[in-house]
Amino acid sequence: MQSPSDLTEVPRLNNKHPRQLYLLFFTEMWERFSFYGMKALLLAYMVTQLKFDEPKGYAILGSYAALVYTMPMFGGMMADRFLGYRRAIMFGGILMSIGHFILAIPQDWSFFYGMAFIICGNGFFKPNISSLVGTLYSNNDPRKDSGFSLFYMGINIGAALGGVICGYVGQMINWHYGFGLAGIFMIIGLVVFYLGQKTLKEKGLPPDMDLLKKPLLHFVRTEWVIYGGTLLLVPVIVSLFHSYHVMDYIMFGLGAASIIYVLFIAFRMENVARNKLFAALIMIIFSTAFWAFYVQNEGSLNLFAMRNVNMNFLGHDLPALSVNNFLPPGWVILLSFFFSWLWPWLNKKGKEPSTPLKFSLSFLLMGIGFYVFYIACTSSMNTGLIPLWTFVAGYFFIICGELCISPIGLSMVTKLSPAKVVGMMMGIWFFADAVGEFLSGKIGSLMSVPSEVQNDAVASMPYYAGILNKIALGSIGVGILLWTTVPLLKKWMKDIH
Ligand code: PHE
Repeated sequence: MQSPSDLTEVPRLNNKHPRQLYLLFFTEMWERFSFYGMKALLLAYMVTQLKFDEPKGYAILGSYAALVYTMPMFGGMMADRFLGYRRAIMFGGILMSIGHFILAIPQDWSFFYGMAFIICGNGFFKPNISSLVGTLYSNNDPRKDSGFSLFYMGINIGAALGGVICGYVGQMINWHYGFGLAGIFMIIGLVVFYLGQKTLKEKGLPPDMDLLKKPLLHFVRTEWVIYGGTLLLVPVIVSLFHSYHVMDYIMFGLGAASIIYVLFIAFRMENVARNKLFAALIMIIFSTAFWAFYVQNEGSLNLFAMRNVNMNFLGHDLPALSVNNFLPPGWVILLSFFFSWLWPWLNKKGKEPSTPLKFSLSFLLMGIGFYVFYIACTSSMNTGLIPLWTFVAGYFFIICGELCISPIGLSMVTKLSPAKVVGMMMGIWFFADAVGEFLSGKIGSLMSVPSEVQNDAVASMPYYAGILNKIALGSIGVGILLWTTVPLLKKWMKDIH
């Protein structure tokens, strides 16, 4: 089922994107600036300022990452049923700004409260802005995947700038200024959206205004109940941070519940819509494995970069952490131009890979990337340092993989989900990442190097080589498995390519 607004948009003959894409591009760019700017400071702030020991720091970081991408299920559902995308985005953005400003308060108590506001805000903002991008194109518009690739570039420009600028201000000047700066840029994003949203016309408005305004229990409007109820979640999340061990159960329970819920919805639909939802669900489940491998970048590969990559470039030693954190968004920005050109170009020739095939390719490419790291390790065992160019080259393949799944997945969710549940399905798409991040922590701990060899590159290298090889093979294995399901998934997707 398509929303009425989908049907009015006729694919144009040239490849120009609707101008509203740029509004959403810049709004999301500043939001991601604030999100990743704050994330760059998080672990170091906990360990150096709040004096948490490292395992506790990692556990809190893991809980934050899991919760921040769990909330989109709730935010997506609220947007589908009551708020519409636009109100949800404004509300989410306001909560995120409040969260950043609370973190700017130089008091220990502010920390968990600030994070809890950001978690709630992200739940409303992040899935719904992506769903709104989907409404700009009809489902078979060949520009849709390339539009999402461009949008994804905005995400990564924001992520790269935010990490570098807030990271610098926080670490070099004052941690709380760094957090506050993130808040200022979130507000810039919101102002951009607020001023530009009239160009969206009827897109992203609440599905049923009367329902939204209807008083619940005779006195408070449904809309205010949603806002108030979300605020009540803040202290609940704060208490979760205090007893983060329960996160394992929460992730497992929610994972099972979300699959059952999607199946429940699917079984109440007619055949074609049901099969499409099945196809979406299977691809979402596979994406969990992608993120579990991919986010080694945020964890174990930081330490690998510090210990086992030769960071010397033209006689200067580059900072390993910055290199490791800059390479992924840097490659995304460069390669997005290429991919947003490649898909329509292949489409014109009738050779564009289908969505499940792109998903499968993403695993194969990521596997090649990890394999490059592995080969580099095995040929540098005697020095313990792999050449910088091999590190850059490995990431090239990994990011090509990311661009075949991450923006394509956003686009896929908007194509395969019935209009009424796009927001919720988008939330589940992000939840798959939350599960992936959670699993990646477990893989990361396999990569931990015994303390006696930590400062000895030659001795630590074999530990990394072994696990990098397993990740490479695992990723290629999943890619092949997914490849075998392509014919079935294509059949289920019917008219969607
Ligand atoms: N880095 C991208 C973003 O922030 C994609 C992503 C989303 C990756 C969610 C992991 C989790 O949107």
